[in-house]
Amino acid sequence: MQKEILEISQLNKSYHQGSETLEILKDLDFKVSEGMTAAIVGASGSGKSTLMSLIAGLDSPNSGQVKINGQALGDLEEQQLTRFRGENLGIIFQQFHLMSHLSALENVQLPLDILNREQPKEKAKEALSLVNLSHRERHLPGQLSGGENQRVAIARSFVVKPRLLLADEPSGSLDSETGEQVMDLLFKAVADQKMTMVLVTHDRLLAERCDEIWELKNKTLTKI
Ligand SMILES: Nc1ncnc2c1ncn2[C@@H]1O[C@H](COP(=O)(O)OP(=O)(O)OP(=O)(O)O)[C@@H](O)[C@H]1O
Ligand SMILES: [Mg+2]
Repeated sequence: MQKEILEISQLNKSYHQGSETLEILKDLDFKVSEGMTAAIVGASGSGKSTLMSLIAGLDSPNSGQVKINGQALGDLEEQQLTRFRGENLGIIFQQFHLMSHLSALENVQLPLDILNREQPKEKAKEALSLVNLSHRERHLPGQLSGGENQRVAIARSFVVKPRLLLADEPSGSLDSETGEQVMDLLFKAVADQKMTMVLVTHDRLLAERCDEIWELKNKTLTKI
C-alpha cells in the first residue's frame, strides 16, 4: 500500500477581520503519497498560501488535522513542532527568505547546523553544486541575481533531505526563462532524492510536470 506523507482531513480556516469572519478553507481533505508531486492551482486569494502555511505548521487551523508522515502537527508543542519542521519539511517561498548577512554556502548550511547533522559544509557544498552554484558559494544574497538567490533557497530546502518539500510559487519572481531553468533544477532534485512535493503555481505548464493537479476553489481542493 502507498504510504501517505501528507494527510489533511476536514481542515477549516477562517480569519477574523474586525467583526467579520472570513472563511478561507472549509472541510478540506487532501492526501499526497510518498514520492508523488502534487500541484495546487487556483485563483489569487483562493487560499493557496494559507493552506501551505497550515501544512508547514506556521499557522494553525480552526479545526481539522494536518498529518505529516503519520504525525499530527496539532499534537506537537511549539518546540517539538519547530524541530519536526526542520527535520521533515523543506520550504521554498516566492520571496527567497534568505539570511542577508550569510553567504550562499552559509545559508544552505544553516538547516544542517541547526539539526547538528554531520559534515554540514560538505553537504551544503554538494547541494549548491546540484543547483549549479558552486562558483558563488561566498556571495551574499545581495550580490546574487534573483534566479541565483532562488537556487540558493532551493538548495537550502532540500539539503536536509526532507520528506516533504513545500514550494509556494517558487518561480513567481523570476523571468520566464530563468524560472524554467530553476524549475528544471527543482524537479531534478526532487526526482534524484525521491522527495514528495506540493507545489503551488499559477503556471499551468509547470503544474502539468507534477503527477497530480489539484484546484483550490470554493474553499476546498478538488483533483483535476
Ligand atoms: N492574516 C490574514 N488576515 C486576514 N485575511 C487574510 C490573512 N491572510 C490571508 N488572508 C485572506 O485570505 C485569502 C487567501 O489568501 P492567500 O494568501 O492564501 O491566497 P492565495 O491563493 O495564496 O493567493 P495568491 O495566488 O495571490 O498568492 C485572501 O483573500 C486574503 O486576503
Ligand atoms: Mg499565495
